[in-house]
Amino acid sequence: MWTKEALHELIANKLHDHKLVIVANREPYIHRFAGTRIECVQPASGMALALDPIMRACDGVWIAHGSGNADRKTVDAQDHVRVPPEDPRYTLRRVWLTKEQENGYYYGLSNEGLWPLCHIVFTRPVFDPKHWQAYREVNRVFAEAVLEEAADQPTFVFIQDYHFALLPRLLKERNPNLIVAQFWHIPWPNSETFRALPWKEELLEGLLGNDLLGFHLRYHCQNFLETVNRTLEAKVDEERFEITRSGKTTAVRPFAISIDFDQHEAQARSIAVGRVMERWQRDLGLNAEFIGLGIDRIDYTKGIPERLRALDRFLEKYPAYHERFVFVQIGVPSRVHIREYKTLDDEVENLLENLNWKWSKNSWRPIIFLKQHCSRTEMMALHRLAHFCIVSSLHDGMNLVAKEYVSSRFDEDGVLILSQFTGAARELTDAVLINPFAVEEGAEAIRTALEMPESERQKRMQKMRAAVSDNNIYRWAGKVISNLLKFEFPENT
Ligand code: G6P
Repeated sequence: MWTKEALHELIANKLHDHKLVIVANREPYIHRFAGTRIECVQPASGMALALDPIMRACDGVWIAHGSGNADRKTVDAQDHVRVPPEDPRYTLRRVWLTKEQENGYYYGLSNEGLWPLCHIVFTRPVFDPKHWQAYREVNRVFAEAVLEEAADQPTFVFIQDYHFALLPRLLKERNPNLIVAQFWHIPWPNSETFRALPWKEELLEGLLGNDLLGFHLRYHCQNFLETVNRTLEAKVDEERFEITRSGKTTAVRPFAISIDFDQHEAQARSIAVGRVMERWQRDLGLNAEFIGLGIDRIDYTKGIPERLRALDRFLEKYPAYHERFVFVQIGVPSRVHIREYKTLDDEVENLLENLNWKWSKNSWRPIIFLKQHCSRTEMMALHRLAHFCIVSSLHDGMNLVAKEYVSSRFDEDGVLILSQFTGAARELTDAVLINPFAVEEGAEAIRTALEMPESERQKRMQKMRAAVSDNNIYRWAGKVISNLLKFEFPENT
Protein backbone atom coordinates (compact mmCIF):
# COMPACT_ATOMS: atom_id res chain seq x y z
CA MET A 1 0.00 0.00 0.00
CA TRP A 2 1.59 3.27 -1.08
CA THR A 3 1.10 6.23 1.22
CA LYS A 4 2.47 9.73 1.39
CA GLU A 5 4.77 8.51 4.20
CA ALA A 6 6.06 5.60 2.10
CA LEU A 7 6.89 7.98 -0.73
CA HIS A 8 8.60 10.38 1.71
CA GLU A 9 10.66 7.47 2.97
CA LEU A 10 11.66 6.36 -0.52
CA ILE A 11 12.67 9.91 -1.37
CA ALA A 12 14.56 10.44 1.89
CA ASN A 13 16.42 7.13 1.66
CA LYS A 14 17.10 6.83 -2.03
CA LEU A 15 16.78 10.23 -3.66
CA HIS A 16 18.36 12.35 -0.94
CA ASP A 17 21.55 13.50 -2.65
CA HIS A 18 19.96 13.79 -6.07
CA LYS A 19 18.01 16.67 -7.44
CA LEU A 20 14.56 16.19 -8.98
CA VAL A 21 13.58 18.58 -11.73
CA ILE A 22 10.10 18.37 -13.20
CA VAL A 23 9.36 20.01 -16.54
CA ALA A 24 5.75 20.70 -17.52
CA ASN A 25 4.28 23.36 -19.73
CA ARG A 26 1.55 24.20 -17.20
CA GLU A 27 2.65 25.70 -13.90
CA PRO A 28 1.09 24.40 -10.69
CA TYR A 29 0.45 27.94 -9.36
CA ILE A 30 -0.43 30.91 -11.51
CA HIS A 31 -0.23 34.49 -10.28
CA ARG A 32 -2.65 36.90 -11.85
CA PHE A 33 -4.02 40.35 -11.24
CA ALA A 34 -7.48 40.68 -9.72
CA GLY A 35 -7.83 44.45 -10.02
CA THR A 36 -4.72 45.78 -8.28
CA ARG A 37 -4.41 42.73 -6.04
CA ILE A 38 -2.37 39.65 -7.04
CA GLU A 39 -4.09 36.30 -6.59
CA CYS A 40 -2.64 32.82 -6.92
CA VAL A 41 -4.72 30.08 -8.56
CA GLN A 42 -4.25 26.42 -9.41
CA PRO A 43 -4.96 25.62 -13.06
CA ALA A 44 -7.62 23.20 -14.35
CA SER A 45 -5.09 20.54 -15.25
CA GLY A 46 -5.27 16.98 -14.00
CA MET A 47 -1.56 16.72 -14.72
CA ALA A 48 -0.62 19.74 -12.56
CA LEU A 49 -2.86 18.71 -9.65
CA ALA A 50 -1.52 15.16 -9.63
CA LEU A 51 2.13 16.20 -9.54
CA ASP A 52 1.84 18.87 -6.86
CA PRO A 53 1.80 16.44 -3.88
CA ILE A 54 4.89 14.68 -5.24
CA MET A 55 6.82 17.90 -5.50
CA ARG A 56 5.73 18.83 -1.99
CA ALA A 57 7.19 15.54 -0.82
CA CYS A 58 10.63 16.01 -2.37
CA ASP A 59 11.28 19.77 -2.54
CA GLY A 60 12.37 19.72 -6.17
CA VAL A 61 12.27 22.31 -8.92
CA TRP A 62 9.28 22.54 -11.29
CA ILE A 63 10.09 24.31 -14.56
CA ALA A 64 7.07 25.67 -16.43
CA HIS A 65 5.90 28.40 -18.74
CA GLY A 66 5.07 31.51 -16.73
CA SER A 67 1.62 32.16 -18.16
CA GLY A 68 -0.04 34.37 -15.52
CA ASN A 69 -0.13 38.12 -16.02
CA ALA A 70 1.36 38.68 -12.54
CA ASP A 71 3.89 35.84 -12.77
CA ARG A 72 6.83 38.15 -13.44
CA LYS A 73 5.95 40.25 -10.41
CA THR A 74 6.27 37.31 -8.04
CA VAL A 75 9.61 35.69 -9.03
CA ASP A 76 13.14 36.48 -7.82
CA ALA A 77 16.16 37.26 -10.00
CA GLN A 78 16.52 33.57 -10.93
CA ASP A 79 12.85 33.44 -11.98
CA HIS A 80 12.15 31.29 -8.92
CA VAL A 81 9.17 31.42 -6.59
CA ARG A 82 8.53 29.09 -3.65
CA VAL A 83 5.15 27.35 -3.71
CA PRO A 84 2.46 26.68 -2.51
CA PRO A 85 2.36 30.31 -1.38
CA GLU A 86 0.68 29.55 1.97
CA ASP A 87 3.08 26.69 2.82
CA PRO A 88 6.20 26.78 0.60
CA ARG A 89 7.55 23.29 -0.11
CA TYR A 90 9.24 23.45 -3.50
CA THR A 91 10.57 25.82 -6.15
CA LEU A 92 8.75 26.90 -9.29
CA ARG A 93 11.06 28.17 -12.02
CA ARG A 94 9.22 30.14 -14.64
CA VAL A 95 10.28 30.22 -18.28
CA TRP A 96 9.18 33.19 -20.37
CA LEU A 97 7.95 32.76 -23.93
CA THR A 98 7.13 35.35 -26.56
CA LYS A 99 3.57 35.51 -27.94
CA GLU A 100 4.84 34.00 -31.21
CA GLN A 101 6.52 31.12 -29.36
CA GLU A 102 3.42 30.46 -27.28
CA ASN A 103 1.26 30.60 -30.34
CA GLY A 104 3.33 28.18 -32.41
CA TYR A 105 4.48 25.78 -29.70
CA TYR A 106 1.49 25.67 -27.30
CA TYR A 107 -1.61 26.56 -29.31
CA GLY A 108 -0.14 25.34 -32.59
CA LEU A 109 1.93 22.17 -32.62
CA SER A 110 0.98 20.92 -29.13
CA ASN A 111 -2.73 21.60 -29.13
CA GLU A 112 -3.74 21.84 -32.79
CA GLY A 113 -1.32 19.12 -33.90
CA LEU A 114 -0.38 16.53 -31.27
CA TRP A 115 -3.52 16.79 -29.09
CA PRO A 116 -5.98 15.80 -31.87
CA LEU A 117 -3.44 13.37 -33.36
CA CYS A 118 -3.21 11.41 -30.11
CA HIS A 119 -6.91 11.60 -29.18
CA ILE A 120 -8.90 9.77 -31.77
CA VAL A 121 -12.04 11.91 -31.77
CA PHE A 122 -12.23 12.78 -35.47
CA THR A 123 -10.87 16.30 -35.13
CA ARG A 124 -8.35 16.82 -37.84
CA PRO A 125 -4.86 17.80 -36.65
CA VAL A 126 -3.15 20.90 -38.08
CA PHE A 127 0.50 20.49 -39.06
CA ASP A 128 2.02 23.87 -39.80
CA PRO A 129 5.81 24.07 -40.36
CA LYS A 130 5.88 27.41 -38.49
CA HIS A 131 4.34 25.71 -35.47
CA TRP A 132 6.93 22.97 -35.69
CA GLN A 133 9.74 25.54 -35.77
CA ALA A 134 8.33 27.24 -32.67
CA TYR A 135 7.98 23.86 -30.94
CA ARG A 136 11.63 23.06 -31.62
CA GLU A 137 12.69 26.49 -30.44
CA VAL A 138 10.70 26.30 -27.19
CA ASN A 139 12.00 22.80 -26.45
CA ARG A 140 15.50 24.34 -26.71
CA VAL A 141 14.53 27.20 -24.39
CA PHE A 142 13.36 24.69 -21.77
CA ALA A 143 16.51 22.60 -22.27
CA GLU A 144 18.61 25.63 -21.25
CA ALA A 145 16.53 26.12 -18.12
CA VAL A 146 16.87 22.44 -17.12
CA LEU A 147 20.63 22.42 -17.71
CA GLU A 148 20.97 25.53 -15.57
CA GLU A 149 18.93 24.05 -12.72
CA ALA A 150 20.77 20.72 -12.82
CA ALA A 151 24.20 22.38 -13.07
CA ASP A 152 26.67 19.54 -12.38
CA GLN A 153 24.69 17.76 -9.70
CA PRO A 154 23.32 14.24 -10.16
CA THR A 155 19.82 15.07 -11.34
CA PHE A 156 16.70 13.20 -12.31
CA VAL A 157 14.68 15.11 -14.89
CA PHE A 158 11.03 14.14 -15.11
CA ILE A 159 9.34 15.65 -18.17
CA GLN A 160 5.56 15.87 -18.56
CA ASP A 161 3.52 15.45 -21.66
CA TYR A 162 3.36 16.13 -25.36
CA HIS A 163 4.70 19.69 -25.22
CA PHE A 164 8.26 18.39 -24.86
CA ALA A 165 8.87 15.46 -27.20
CA LEU A 166 12.22 16.87 -28.33
CA LEU A 167 13.52 17.83 -24.90
CA PRO A 168 14.89 14.43 -23.75
CA ARG A 169 17.30 14.14 -26.65
CA LEU A 170 18.39 17.78 -26.37
CA LEU A 171 19.18 17.22 -22.69
CA LYS A 172 21.07 13.97 -23.19
CA GLU A 173 23.18 15.52 -25.96
CA ARG A 174 24.29 18.34 -23.71
CA ASN A 175 24.55 16.44 -20.43
CA PRO A 176 24.66 12.64 -20.77
CA ASN A 177 24.89 12.34 -16.98
CA LEU A 178 21.30 13.35 -16.46
CA ILE A 179 18.75 10.61 -15.91
CA VAL A 180 15.75 11.56 -17.98
CA ALA A 181 12.19 10.23 -17.82
CA GLN A 182 9.00 11.42 -19.42
CA PHE A 183 5.34 10.73 -18.83
CA TRP A 184 2.93 11.12 -21.73
CA HIS A 185 -0.36 12.06 -20.06
CA ILE A 186 -2.52 11.59 -23.15
CA PRO A 187 -3.14 8.46 -25.24
CA TRP A 188 -0.59 7.26 -27.78
CA PRO A 189 -2.47 6.39 -30.98
CA ASN A 190 -1.88 3.39 -33.22
CA SER A 191 0.92 3.64 -35.78
CA GLU A 192 -1.60 4.03 -38.61
CA THR A 193 -2.84 7.29 -37.09
CA PHE A 194 0.56 8.55 -36.02
CA ARG A 195 2.06 8.23 -39.48
CA ALA A 196 0.25 11.43 -40.55
CA LEU A 197 2.70 13.59 -38.56
CA PRO A 198 5.13 15.10 -41.07
CA TRP A 199 7.96 15.27 -38.48
CA LYS A 200 7.39 11.86 -36.94
CA GLU A 201 11.01 10.67 -37.16
CA GLU A 202 12.43 13.71 -35.37
CA LEU A 203 9.71 13.59 -32.73
CA LEU A 204 10.29 9.89 -32.01
CA GLU A 205 14.06 10.40 -31.91
CA GLY A 206 13.48 13.11 -29.36
CA LEU A 207 11.43 10.80 -27.15
CA LEU A 208 14.01 8.05 -27.42
CA GLY A 209 16.43 10.35 -25.60
CA ASN A 210 14.55 9.28 -22.46
CA ASP A 211 15.85 6.55 -20.19
CA LEU A 212 12.27 5.85 -19.16
CA LEU A 213 9.07 6.70 -21.01
CA GLY A 214 5.70 6.20 -19.28
CA PHE A 215 2.12 5.97 -20.49
CA HIS A 216 -1.06 5.36 -18.51
CA LEU A 217 -1.88 2.04 -20.15
CA ARG A 218 -0.02 -0.98 -21.43
CA TYR A 219 -2.04 -0.55 -24.61
CA HIS A 220 -0.50 2.91 -25.19
CA CYS A 221 2.97 1.41 -24.60
CA GLN A 222 2.26 -1.23 -27.22
CA ASN A 223 1.08 1.43 -29.67
CA PHE A 224 4.30 3.35 -29.06
CA LEU A 225 6.51 0.29 -29.63
CA GLU A 226 4.68 -0.45 -32.84
CA THR A 227 4.95 3.17 -34.01
CA VAL A 228 8.72 3.14 -33.49
CA ASN A 229 9.01 -0.24 -35.17
CA ARG A 230 7.28 1.06 -38.28
CA THR A 231 8.97 4.45 -38.39
CA LEU A 232 12.61 4.16 -37.33
CA GLU A 233 15.53 1.76 -37.58
CA ALA A 234 15.56 0.54 -34.01
CA LYS A 235 15.61 -2.65 -31.99
CA VAL A 236 12.18 -2.99 -30.43
CA ASP A 237 11.98 -5.62 -27.71
CA GLU A 238 8.31 -6.42 -27.27
CA GLU A 239 8.96 -8.81 -24.39
CA ARG A 240 10.93 -6.41 -22.23
CA PHE A 241 9.18 -3.26 -23.50
CA GLU A 242 12.50 -1.67 -24.46
CA ILE A 243 13.69 0.20 -27.53
CA THR A 244 17.33 0.52 -28.50
CA ARG A 245 18.48 3.01 -31.11
CA SER A 246 22.08 4.09 -31.76
CA GLY A 247 23.23 2.24 -28.64
CA LYS A 248 20.76 4.03 -26.33
CA THR A 249 17.98 2.08 -24.62
CA THR A 250 14.62 3.49 -23.54
CA ALA A 251 12.38 1.50 -21.18
CA VAL A 252 8.68 1.95 -21.96
CA ARG A 253 6.35 1.32 -19.01
CA PRO A 254 2.69 1.76 -17.99
CA PHE A 255 1.94 3.79 -14.83
CA ALA A 256 -1.73 4.68 -14.26
CA ILE A 257 -1.88 8.15 -12.71
CA SER A 258 -4.18 8.99 -9.84
CA ILE A 259 -4.91 11.49 -7.07
CA ASP A 260 -4.11 11.89 -3.38
CA PHE A 261 -7.13 9.90 -2.16
CA ASP A 262 -6.61 10.46 1.59
CA GLN A 263 -6.00 14.18 1.33
CA HIS A 264 -8.90 14.57 -1.09
CA GLU A 265 -11.28 12.66 1.14
CA ALA A 266 -10.21 14.58 4.24
CA GLN A 267 -10.91 17.87 2.46
CA ALA A 268 -14.24 16.61 1.12
CA ARG A 269 -15.32 15.87 4.73
CA SER A 270 -14.40 19.37 5.92
CA ILE A 271 -16.78 21.94 7.33
CA ALA A 272 -15.70 24.32 4.57
CA VAL A 273 -17.04 21.92 1.92
CA GLY A 274 -20.26 21.53 3.92
CA ARG A 275 -20.71 25.30 3.90
CA VAL A 276 -20.15 25.52 0.15
CA MET A 277 -22.72 22.74 -0.35
CA GLU A 278 -25.26 24.95 1.38
CA ARG A 279 -24.15 27.91 -0.71
CA TRP A 280 -24.54 25.98 -3.98
CA GLN A 281 -27.99 24.77 -2.90
CA ARG A 282 -29.04 28.30 -2.08
CA ASP A 283 -27.47 30.10 -5.05
CA LEU A 284 -28.42 27.54 -7.69
CA GLY A 285 -31.76 26.65 -6.14
CA LEU A 286 -30.62 23.02 -6.02
CA ASN A 287 -33.71 21.64 -4.34
CA ALA A 288 -34.52 19.03 -7.01
CA GLU A 289 -34.97 15.42 -5.97
CA PHE A 290 -32.10 14.33 -8.24
CA ILE A 291 -28.91 16.18 -9.19
CA GLY A 292 -26.54 15.17 -11.98
CA LEU A 293 -23.06 16.64 -12.50
CA GLY A 294 -20.43 17.16 -15.18
CA ILE A 295 -17.12 18.98 -14.63
CA ASP A 296 -14.80 19.46 -17.59
CA ARG A 297 -12.48 21.79 -19.39
CA ILE A 298 -14.41 22.87 -22.48
CA ASP A 299 -12.55 20.52 -24.79
CA TYR A 300 -13.82 18.51 -27.76
CA THR A 301 -12.31 15.32 -26.33
CA LYS A 302 -14.61 15.48 -23.28
CA GLY A 303 -17.84 14.60 -25.10
CA ILE A 304 -19.91 17.52 -23.73
CA PRO A 305 -22.32 17.78 -26.71
CA GLU A 306 -22.75 14.00 -26.62
CA ARG A 307 -23.65 14.23 -22.92
CA LEU A 308 -26.20 16.98 -23.60
CA ARG A 309 -27.76 14.89 -26.37
CA ALA A 310 -28.05 11.97 -23.96
CA LEU A 311 -29.74 14.26 -21.42
CA ASP A 312 -32.12 15.48 -24.09
CA ARG A 313 -33.03 11.92 -25.04
CA PHE A 314 -33.45 10.98 -21.38
CA LEU A 315 -35.91 13.85 -20.83
CA GLU A 316 -37.77 12.82 -23.96
CA LYS A 317 -38.03 9.17 -22.94
CA TYR A 318 -38.76 9.64 -19.26
CA PRO A 319 -41.10 12.60 -18.68
CA ALA A 320 -41.74 11.33 -15.14
CA TYR A 321 -38.41 12.97 -14.23
CA HIS A 322 -39.42 16.42 -15.43
CA GLU A 323 -39.26 19.00 -12.66
CA ARG A 324 -37.58 16.44 -10.39
CA PHE A 325 -34.12 16.48 -11.91
CA VAL A 326 -31.37 19.10 -12.49
CA PHE A 327 -28.05 18.64 -14.24
CA VAL A 328 -25.19 20.98 -13.26
CA GLN A 329 -22.45 21.34 -15.86
CA ILE A 330 -19.25 23.18 -14.98
CA GLY A 331 -17.31 24.16 -18.10
CA VAL A 332 -13.85 25.59 -17.55
CA PRO A 333 -12.77 27.70 -20.55
CA SER A 334 -9.68 26.23 -22.16
CA ARG A 335 -7.32 26.97 -25.11
CA VAL A 336 -9.76 29.64 -26.22
CA HIS A 337 -7.63 30.95 -29.10
CA ILE A 338 -8.03 27.72 -31.06
CA ARG A 339 -10.84 27.61 -33.62
CA GLU A 340 -12.12 24.12 -32.70
CA TYR A 341 -12.50 25.22 -29.08
CA LYS A 342 -14.49 28.30 -30.10
CA THR A 343 -16.72 26.18 -32.34
CA LEU A 344 -17.30 23.75 -29.49
CA ASP A 345 -18.11 26.58 -27.13
CA ASP A 346 -20.80 27.84 -29.53
CA GLU A 347 -22.15 24.32 -30.03
CA VAL A 348 -22.45 23.76 -26.28
CA GLU A 349 -24.18 27.13 -25.76
CA ASN A 350 -26.66 26.37 -28.57
CA LEU A 351 -27.43 22.87 -27.38
CA LEU A 352 -27.97 24.13 -23.84
CA GLU A 353 -30.21 26.93 -24.88
CA ASN A 354 -32.36 24.64 -27.03
CA LEU A 355 -32.52 21.97 -24.38
CA ASN A 356 -33.54 24.34 -21.60
CA TRP A 357 -36.05 26.06 -23.86
CA LYS A 358 -37.54 22.77 -25.04
CA TRP A 359 -38.03 21.18 -21.61
CA SER A 360 -38.45 24.08 -19.17
CA LYS A 361 -41.67 24.05 -17.19
CA ASN A 362 -42.85 26.68 -14.72
CA SER A 363 -39.66 27.78 -12.98
CA TRP A 364 -37.81 24.49 -13.74
CA ARG A 365 -34.91 24.38 -16.18
CA PRO A 366 -33.18 21.00 -16.50
CA ILE A 367 -29.60 22.22 -17.03
CA ILE A 368 -27.54 24.74 -15.08
CA PHE A 369 -24.40 25.65 -16.99
CA LEU A 370 -21.61 27.46 -15.19
CA LYS A 371 -18.80 28.55 -17.45
CA GLN A 372 -16.14 29.22 -14.85
CA HIS A 373 -13.14 27.99 -12.99
CA CYS A 374 -14.13 26.28 -9.71
CA SER A 375 -12.00 25.92 -6.59
CA ARG A 376 -11.35 22.43 -5.20
CA THR A 377 -13.74 23.09 -2.34
CA GLU A 378 -16.48 24.12 -4.76
CA MET A 379 -15.96 21.01 -6.86
CA MET A 380 -16.01 18.71 -3.85
CA ALA A 381 -19.25 20.31 -2.67
CA LEU A 382 -20.82 19.54 -6.04
CA HIS A 383 -19.49 15.97 -5.96
CA ARG A 384 -21.20 15.46 -2.63
CA LEU A 385 -24.48 16.94 -3.82
CA ALA A 386 -24.69 14.98 -7.06
CA HIS A 387 -26.60 11.69 -7.27
CA PHE A 388 -24.53 10.87 -10.30
CA CYS A 389 -21.58 12.30 -12.21
CA ILE A 390 -21.04 11.86 -15.95
CA VAL A 391 -17.58 11.59 -17.53
CA SER A 392 -18.27 11.07 -21.21
CA SER A 393 -14.87 11.66 -22.86
CA LEU A 394 -14.63 10.46 -26.45
CA HIS A 395 -11.02 9.52 -25.68
CA ASP A 396 -9.00 10.29 -22.56
CA GLY A 397 -5.59 9.12 -21.30
CA MET A 398 -6.92 8.69 -17.74
CA ASN A 399 -9.48 11.32 -16.55
CA LEU A 400 -9.05 12.35 -12.96
CA VAL A 401 -12.52 13.92 -12.57
CA ALA A 402 -13.84 10.34 -12.32
CA LYS A 403 -11.38 9.53 -9.54
CA GLU A 404 -12.11 12.81 -7.75
CA TYR A 405 -15.85 12.16 -7.73
CA VAL A 406 -15.51 8.77 -6.04
CA SER A 407 -12.89 10.09 -3.60
CA SER A 408 -15.29 12.81 -2.44
CA ARG A 409 -18.05 10.26 -1.74
CA PHE A 410 -17.07 9.15 1.74
CA ASP A 411 -20.80 8.46 2.29
CA GLU A 412 -20.37 5.60 -0.24
CA ASP A 413 -23.28 6.84 -2.29
CA GLY A 414 -23.56 8.29 -5.81
CA VAL A 415 -23.18 6.72 -9.25
CA LEU A 416 -20.39 7.33 -11.74
CA ILE A 417 -21.33 7.16 -15.42
CA LEU A 418 -18.03 6.70 -17.21
CA SER A 419 -16.94 6.54 -20.82
CA GLN A 420 -15.33 3.24 -21.70
CA PHE A 421 -12.79 5.25 -23.74
CA THR A 422 -11.05 6.70 -20.69
CA GLY A 423 -8.01 5.14 -19.03
CA ALA A 424 -9.97 5.37 -15.75
CA ALA A 425 -12.52 2.85 -17.07
CA ARG A 426 -9.86 0.11 -16.82
CA GLU A 427 -9.74 0.58 -13.05
CA LEU A 428 -13.26 1.82 -12.23
CA THR A 429 -15.11 -1.13 -13.63
CA ASP A 430 -17.97 -0.60 -11.17
CA ALA A 431 -18.99 2.61 -12.86
CA VAL A 432 -21.91 2.51 -15.31
CA LEU A 433 -19.77 2.26 -18.44
CA ILE A 434 -20.96 3.88 -21.67
CA ASN A 435 -19.98 4.48 -25.24
CA PRO A 436 -20.42 8.28 -25.30
CA PHE A 437 -21.04 8.30 -29.06
CA ALA A 438 -24.23 6.26 -28.49
CA VAL A 439 -26.94 8.71 -27.39
CA GLU A 440 -29.44 6.01 -26.45
CA GLU A 441 -26.88 4.29 -24.24
CA GLY A 442 -26.14 7.58 -22.47
CA ALA A 443 -29.86 8.22 -21.83
CA GLU A 444 -30.33 4.72 -20.44
CA ALA A 445 -27.26 5.09 -18.21
CA ILE A 446 -28.84 8.19 -16.63
CA ARG A 447 -32.01 6.22 -15.91
CA THR A 448 -29.96 3.32 -14.53
CA ALA A 449 -28.11 5.74 -12.25
CA LEU A 450 -31.31 7.31 -10.97
CA GLU A 451 -33.07 4.01 -10.38
CA MET A 452 -30.18 2.01 -8.98
CA PRO A 453 -31.06 0.55 -5.55
CA GLU A 454 -29.14 2.01 -2.64
CA SER A 455 -27.42 -1.29 -1.79
CA GLU A 456 -26.02 -1.59 -5.31
CA ARG A 457 -24.89 2.04 -5.38
CA GLN A 458 -23.07 1.42 -2.15
CA LYS A 459 -21.44 -1.81 -3.29
CA ARG A 460 -20.17 -0.22 -6.50
CA MET A 461 -18.98 2.95 -4.77
CA GLN A 462 -17.09 0.95 -2.14
CA LYS A 463 -15.25 -0.97 -4.83
CA MET A 464 -14.39 2.14 -6.83
CA ARG A 465 -13.17 3.94 -3.74
CA ALA A 466 -10.99 0.97 -2.81
CA ALA A 467 -9.50 1.03 -6.32
CA VAL A 468 -8.56 4.74 -6.11
CA SER A 469 -7.39 4.51 -2.52
CA ASP A 470 -5.10 1.62 -3.43
CA ASN A 471 -3.85 2.91 -6.76
CA ASN A 472 -3.25 6.45 -5.50
CA ILE A 473 -0.86 9.16 -6.68
CA TYR A 474 1.85 7.98 -4.26
CA ARG A 475 1.81 4.56 -5.84
CA TRP A 476 2.16 6.14 -9.29
CA ALA A 477 5.05 8.33 -8.12
CA GLY A 478 6.61 5.50 -6.13
CA LYS A 479 6.59 3.24 -9.16
CA VAL A 480 8.04 5.93 -11.44
CA ILE A 481 10.76 6.83 -8.93
CA SER A 482 11.60 3.17 -8.22
CA ASN A 483 12.02 2.65 -11.95
CA LEU A 484 14.18 5.77 -12.22
CA LEU A 485 16.42 4.56 -9.41
CA LYS A 486 17.33 1.52 -11.49
CA PHE A 487 19.37 3.81 -13.73
CA GLU A 488 22.77 4.54 -12.31
CA PHE A 489 24.53 7.86 -12.47
CA PRO A 490 28.00 7.71 -13.98
CA GLU A 491 30.81 7.63 -11.36
CA ASN A 492 31.96 11.18 -11.99
CA THR A 493 28.66 12.93 -11.21
C1 G6P B 1 -4.34 17.63 -20.19
C2 G6P B 1 -2.85 17.57 -20.45
C3 G6P B 1 -2.10 18.49 -19.47
C4 G6P B 1 -2.68 19.86 -19.49
C5 G6P B 1 -4.19 19.81 -19.22
C6 G6P B 1 -4.85 21.18 -19.27
O1 G6P B 1 -4.63 17.05 -18.95
O2 G6P B 1 -2.39 16.26 -20.35
O3 G6P B 1 -0.73 18.56 -19.84
O4 G6P B 1 -2.05 20.69 -18.55
O5 G6P B 1 -4.78 18.97 -20.19
O6 G6P B 1 -4.59 21.82 -20.48
P1 G6P B 1 -3.77 23.16 -20.61
O7 G6P B 1 -3.51 23.30 -22.07
O8 G6P B 1 -4.66 24.22 -20.05
O9 G6P B 1 -2.52 23.03 -19.79
